Formats: sequence, structure tokens, C-alpha cells
Amino acid sequence: MKGKMKLSAMAIALAWLLFMDSTRAATVSSPSPSPAPAPAPDYVNLTELLSVAGPFHLFLEKLESTKVIDTFQNQANNTDQGITIFAPKDKAFSSLKKPSLSNLTSDQLKSLMLYHAIPEYYSLADFKNLSQQGPTSTFAGGLYALNFTDNKGSVSLDSGWSQTLISSSVYSTRPVALYQVDSVLLPEAIFGKAPPPAPAPAPAPDTFTPADVSPSGSQENPFSPKSSPSTSANAAASRPVAMTALFSPVVALVHLLLVAGGVVVL
Ligand SMILES: *[C@@H]1O[C@H](CO)[C@@H](O)[C@H](O)[C@H]1NC(C)=O
Ligand SMILES: *[C@@H]1O[C@H](CO)[C@@H](O)[C@H](O)[C@H]1NC(C)=O
Ligand SMILES: *[C@@H]1O[C@H](CO)[C@@H](O)[C@H](O)[C@H]1NC(C)=O
Ligand SMILES: *[C@@H]1O[C@H](CO)[C@@H](O)[C@H](O)[C@H]1NC(C)=O
Ligand SMILES: *[C@@H]1O[C@H](CO)[C@@H](O)[C@H](O)[C@H]1NC(C)=O
Repeated sequence: MKGKMKLSAMAIALAWLLFMDSTRAATVSSPSPSPAPAPAPDYVNLTELLSVAGPFHLFLEKLESTKVIDTFQNQANNTDQGITIFAPKDKAFSSLKKPSLSNLTSDQLKSLMLYHAIPEYYSLADFKNLSQQGPTSTFAGGLYALNFTDNKGSVSLDSGWSQTLISSSVYSTRPVALYQVDSVLLPEAIFGKAPPPAPAPAPAPDTFTPADVSPSGSQENPFSPKSSPSTSANAAASRPVAMTALFSPVVALVHLLLVAGGVVVL
């Protein structure tokens, strides 16, 4: 008992010391008011930003292997326009089955990575305007455009091949904006238009198309935490295949539970 009290007293003392230390560190590291503050924007280390947020490890890995990270960092360092980056989470890369990125040439992969940024800083509020301007060019050049749609603050991006949502704002201070997106952006210039939904197999006209056959179904998450109910409703309306595919495991589970409970369901 005594030992425990001693321990917790020590823990409190330690916490207090750490707290004091962090406040002191904050005071020390805060910039002293210099007589002539440079107008240069703060340096944002994009590599560091991407390695602590996310997880965006696969995105960062590809940015580094293609050296596109230097292009982005240079833009962030040296321009007034700044940069807006759309980072897909690791899960978006690992769940990407069709089309595969493994067959891309190194030039195509580089374009794909450049496609994930716009050489201009945009706050979330700016997308309302952008959505009325038609296609917006990305870092990959004119052919590699994105269309934005702002639905009551929920921003979706259309690559021509697929649609995805901005699911959170990771960092947004001029000159750098970093937004998390639900799926990898697949430029029409590389992948073409999305293939039309696969025709239902002949012998069973009532069965559903598997989600991974539909390009948007396999990449979009209609249950993204930030999407407002209205957006989810829209997603449900425009992506019935994806929704059905997502619900069927739930239905199967309910059946299983009912059967386990001794109820026969027909
Ligand atoms: C940026 O951050 C990365 C990862 O933390 C680090 O390796 C690199 O040295 C940093 N670059 C600069 C210029 O500080
Ligand atoms: C960006 O700025 C940092 C800090 O000034 C510098 O270390 C880094 O090399 C610069 N990177 C590029 C690509 O300009
Ligand atoms: C990748 O290329 C190989 C050989 O050309 C081909 O067999 C395969 O189907 C391709 N995979 C995809 C996903 O396009
Ligand atoms: C939005 O666009 C209109 C014209 O389309 C322009 O007048 C206005 O300044 C823009 N607002 C912002 C915040 O860019
Ligand atoms: C963007 O929208 C325009 C006009 O609606 C359309 O012509 C174009 O193909 C779209 N581009 C992309 C990349 O979605």
C-alpha cells in the first residue's frame, strides 16, 4: 500500500517535471520577436508531415521513388502559389486491385504521383469556387485534370476514371494544404474513362455485380467518417452496386445469427 502511494506520488512528480519541461521547451523554441521578421513562409517539411499523418507510407514511398517529393517540396519552399496535396491512405493503395499500378511505366507512375497535387494552395472553402470552374489542372499538366464538386462542404474529386472524397484536412496553412482522400486518383489520361458497369452474368440476371468489378465500388467508402448524411445518401443513390455489395455481408451475418438462434428464415 505504502509502496503504491510512493509510486503514484513519483508518477505525479514525473508528469509535473515533464510538463514543466515541455512548457520551457515551448518558450525556448518560440521565435523571439526579431526587429525585421522575414516575410518568407514557414518551411514545411512534407516528408515529415506525410510520415507522421495518415498513415501515408505507401504514398510517401512512391513520391520518394519517383522523386516527385522534391518537386512538391520545391513548390512549397519557393513559390507564392503554394501547393495542395491529396494523399490516399495506405489502405487505398493496398486495396487497389483494378487497375493495378504495377504495370505502369516509370513515366506513368511519375505522372500518377504528380496528379495528386495542384501547384496552388487551396483551403477547403476554396473548393466551392473550384467546383464551378470546370476541370482544374494538376501538377502532372493540362491533360491530367480533376473536377471538384462541393456538396455542402463535402468535397469530391472526379478523375474521369473514378470519384473520391476528401475525408479529412490534415494540414492547411498557406502555402501548404494536405488533404486525405479515400482512394488513389487514377487519371483518365493513363487509365481512360471508367469501364461501363459489367453486364450481369447471363444465367443469373438477379445477382449483384461483385464490388471489385466496379471501379468506383472497390475504391469508394460511402461510410467515410466525415461525409455528411446527405453525401452518403447521394453515394447510395449513385453507387447502388457498391452499397449492395457492402450490405450483403451484414445481411449474411443477420441470417447466421437468426439461424443460430433457432429461427428458420426463408
Ligand atoms: C524532413 O524530414 C525528414 C523526415 O523526418 C528528414 O529525414 C529530413 O532530414 C527533413 N529535411 C529537412 C530539410 O529538414
Ligand atoms: C526546402 O527548404 C528547406 C529548408 O530551407 C531545405 O533544407 C530544403 O533543401 C528545401 N528543399 C527543396 C526541394 O527546395
Ligand atoms: C500486366 O502486364 C502483364 C503482361 O503484359 C499482363 O499479363 C497483366 O494482365 C497486366 N496486369 C494488369 C493488371 O494490367
Ligand atoms: C470565387 O469566384 C468568383 C468568380 O467566379 C470570384 O469573384 C471570387 O473572388 C472567388 N472567390 C474566391 C474565394 O476565390
Ligand atoms: C470534368 O468535367 C468536364 C465538363 O463537365 C468534362 O468534360 C471532363 O471530362 C471532366 N474531367 C474529368 C477529369 O473528370
